Amino acid sequence: MKNTFGIALTLTIFGESHGEYIGAVLDGLAPGIKIDREYINARLAERRPSGKISTARVEADEYIIASGEFEGYTTGAPLTVLIPNTNKKSKDYSTLKTTPRPSHADYTAECKYHGFQDYRGGGHFSGRITAALVAAGAILRSALISKGIKIGSHIVELHGASDRRFEDYERDIDSLLGKSFPTLTDSAEENMRREAEKAAAMGDSVGGILETAIIGVPAGVGEPWFDTLESMLAHALFSVPAVKGVEFGAGFAFADMYGSEANDPFTIKDGGVVTVTNNNGGINGGITNGMPILLSTVIKPTPSIFKEQATVDLTEGKNTVLKLEGRHDPCIIHRARAVVDAMCAIVIADMLTARFGTDYLASGDKK
Ligand SMILES: Cc1cc2nc3c(=O)[nH]c(=O)nc-3n(C[C@H](O)[C@H](O)[C@H](O)COP(=O)(O)O)c2cc1C
Repeated sequence: MKNTFGIALTLTIFGESHGEYIGAVLDGLAPGIKIDREYINARLAERRPSGKISTARVEADEYIIASGEFEGYTTGAPLTVLIPNTNKKSKDYSTLKTTPRPSHADYTAECKYHGFQDYRGGGHFSGRITAALVAAGAILRSALISKGIKIGSHIVELHGASDRRFEDYERDIDSLLGKSFPTLTDSAEENMRREAEKAAAMGDSVGGILETAIIGVPAGVGEPWFDTLESMLAHALFSVPAVKGVEFGAGFAFADMYGSEANDPFTIKDGGVVTVTNNNGGINGGITNGMPILLSTVIKPTPSIFKEQATVDLTEGKNTVLKLEGRHDPCIIHRARAVVDAMCAIVIADMLTARFGTDYLASGDKK
């Protein structure tokens, strides 16, 4: 479906970095989800660039809900979020059409769209589009919170600097809300910022790993084969620009474990079934087992760097050197976190809707 994702609840995205608007459409939404603008604004603020390690392109992200909302609640009809692009400097990017940035999407866009693509600022491939994802995700996330489901991500690795892992899930998730640089410890933030600033000073960039926890999802949600919860989450997360790896629970560390170490033994706690460990990240057979859903996402270093790089001149058909100008983040992981949280919310809302029906996410308020 190209720019549309989801089964029972779909998300469509549109727009270009330097076009008039970016936006998202949610279809299949429950009627009666409360639209909490304060909550949406707070999630958009988590994605917005700020400080020394972010691009100088700061957008207000003043969105319009153009359809699907009436008197503060979703109507059940398609909901459209529109965000105008107000801070554009298209002249900075004119060379990208003929001399593609290594590891950005300039060259592959040219191969697919034959020169008709809007190349300004990465066009439809730009991280800018993710603002609309975050706004749409925030609407679903606040509906999930009313069902006791919380999502949170923190930077667990950044170029050699690391944070502790999640321990007390609910407290840790709550502590991340509103942080523009999400770590669980202050020392991790300090060390990671230092790494990012060091890269920026060299005209370079860094990436890292986000650790995400999703708590409160009931057992029994997901599908057994192609739409396993892992597949749906991975599909959504790999759609986020710069994501190059996703793992669930112990992930690639399973390679060095015995079955006796990898298995999560069952036990009864407070009258319910839980597992003693959670190496499988809360998912067995593609279906939730009621434990926290745990996943990690690796974000590559921002491809646009200011160091000279080898590239090609597509018009002349010869090798050349690229020295970038314009506005680029030396590090995007702290901003990508808001996008990862939003994509998780979209998938969980979709899978809950598929399992329990469209009305499941409604606030319960009656007209
Ligand atoms: C929030 C966010 C902001 C981004 N900002 C930039 C940026 O300023 N410069 C850049 O080169 N890439 C940026 N990216 C990453 C590129 O969009 C991405 O690497 C590119 O589209 C190629 O896709 P791929 O890395 O998934 O292959 C950003 C990504 C996200 C999620």
